[in-house]
Amino acid sequence: MCGIVGYVGAKPAAPILVDGLARLEYRGYDSAGVAVLGPSEIRLHRDAVRVRELEASLPKRFAGKTGIGHTRWATHGVPSQRNAHPQLSADGRVAVVHNGIIDNASQLRAELAADGVELTSDTDTEVLAHLIARAHTSDTTTLEQAVLATLDRIEGTYGLAVLDRAHPDRIVVARNGSPIILGIGDREMHVASDTAALVRYTKQVVHLDDGELATLKADGYQTFTRDARTTKTAVTVDWDTSDYGSDGHAHFMHKEIAEQPDSVRRVLKGRLDERFHTVRLGGLEMDARELREFRRVKILGCGSAYYAGQAGAQFIEEVARIPADAEPASEFRYRNPVIEKDTLYVAVSQSGETYDTLVAVQELKRKGGRVIGLVNAVGSSIARECDGGVYLHAGPEVAVASTKALTNMLVGFALLGLHLGRIRDVSPADGRRLITALQALPEQIERILADEDHLAAVAKDLAQAPSLFFVGRTRGFPVAREGAQKLKEISYRHAEAYQTSELKHGPLALVGPELPTVAIVPDDELLERNLGALQEITARSGPLVVVTHDGVDLGVVPAHVIAVPKSEPELDPLLLTIPLQLLAYHAALTLGHDVDKPRNLAKSVTVE
Ligand code: AGP
Repeated sequence: MCGIVGYVGAKPAAPILVDGLARLEYRGYDSAGVAVLGPSEIRLHRDAVRVRELEASLPKRFAGKTGIGHTRWATHGVPSQRNAHPQLSADGRVAVVHNGIIDNASQLRAELAADGVELTSDTDTEVLAHLIARAHTSDTTTLEQAVLATLDRIEGTYGLAVLDRAHPDRIVVARNGSPIILGIGDREMHVASDTAALVRYTKQVVHLDDGELATLKADGYQTFTRDARTTKTAVTVDWDTSDYGSDGHAHFMHKEIAEQPDSVRRVLKGRLDERFHTVRLGGLEMDARELREFRRVKILGCGSAYYAGQAGAQFIEEVARIPADAEPASEFRYRNPVIEKDTLYVAVSQSGETYDTLVAVQELKRKGGRVIGLVNAVGSSIARECDGGVYLHAGPEVAVASTKALTNMLVGFALLGLHLGRIRDVSPADGRRLITALQALPEQIERILADEDHLAAVAKDLAQAPSLFFVGRTRGFPVAREGAQKLKEISYRHAEAYQTSELKHGPLALVGPELPTVAIVPDDELLERNLGALQEITARSGPLVVVTHDGVDLGVVPAHVIAVPKSEPELDPLLLTIPLQLLAYHAALTLGHDVDKPRNLAKSVTVE
């Protein structure tokens, strides 16, 4: 999705802006641009190019100590030079970069055109530049007043940054539905839509809230709303630039898969109480008495986070014996859901900025729902909107296909489920059993990752099939869904997940020599049932890849067997998911795709 950067200070702005844009590349974009304030004019350079090319083609005279930059993901208008941001006002006075969507842009464009303004792009953003320039109705109008007057006319979502030739000492930024983060430097200020662009320069950041604006000058910042000044507390980001490097791996996805033993250790750190066989989750901000009041758990997330939520709901229901289910936040927000006061709502998100999930949380809060977050990005919008939560500590995830964050979501749900269970009926012995299993996970993941060469060979085989099934039963079904999702995302192969139990109710008609099935077959109480399904597939000559546990007698001879270490049954899904990540990764490599930046997808979906 689009990215914003900005700088005001004593240094040349352009290299800092370009560096920031390069750090936002992972989010996906189709064009890029920067604008700096020269001595008497705004200098603009933008095109439908990669950041590297933008940098190489920067004009020689591009000096300026205040500037803004943008990576664009086309919504209004094709990727092209004229549609790239920054967008300039007709008089060249104002430059704007913008994330989000202005819903009433066509009406505003028509009004501007009728007023004789020549519109030079197809974007919704361009109207902002014209309106801000035209809102300077007298010599005493401040840039802040002009931006506020413009925002009054805007319907839609925005994170935006504005330069004004007449006010070369500042950038004005505003947020409504699209993240804006200020970075506090040493006699300089930065701004970005994502901390990735800030951590090289500062660890002290301030997140704007919806409805807030800020003026950034070299010597500091001031936040405000339409009605008053606001006071913000800076938070410290504990990620640094090395977390955003590929660390010798061919791809970020590979690095992030390899990091999982460590990232699981991090999410567990300090949270396991071995004395009382329970879990400490201080961030929930709710004591045992309050938590016992909940009669249901409802989990909301999108895409893979939703699948992690499905697995989490099963864990919570099975362990804590509280009815639990998961629903895509993208659906929940549109269906005017009934909000119950004895339901604990859980929003799950890696980025903490997924718009659908954020809006679902806001709707919940409007209706008095109690919502906690399982979020990776500290201080992100969803984390701040929730009443409390569990940070996932996976570290920054750059590859579009989520891996380590997903795994930490599963661990996060296990921690939450165990906590809810131990304040209800889970015995100390059962608590100990699950804690021991949680502690074993990092080393078990290491063993799965050591099987990479074998998994790469299986993937090479699977990559040949245009279409695949992934099947799993109960605990295995979210695993199958996530496996299919990962393969689809980066290899562009058609992969569909079904409950194994549903095969005979329809999908079995498609099974045959041309359609491989990846079957999730844990060694648990449903093994016999799953083995029956393998027979049915084999009888129809369907090629099989079975993801199972060591020592299981499958009763058939699949094309490939992938065995993972056994955990406790409730935690098996987590380990069964890991090889599917490597299958997708190697299938995409085999097919020659861009593993980290798959087509049509963005790392975090911050728009409607
Ligand atoms: C995962 O591989 C996907 N890229 C995607 O489904 C993702 O999980 C989803 O968009 C939710 O993102 P979030 O966790 O940042 O909210």
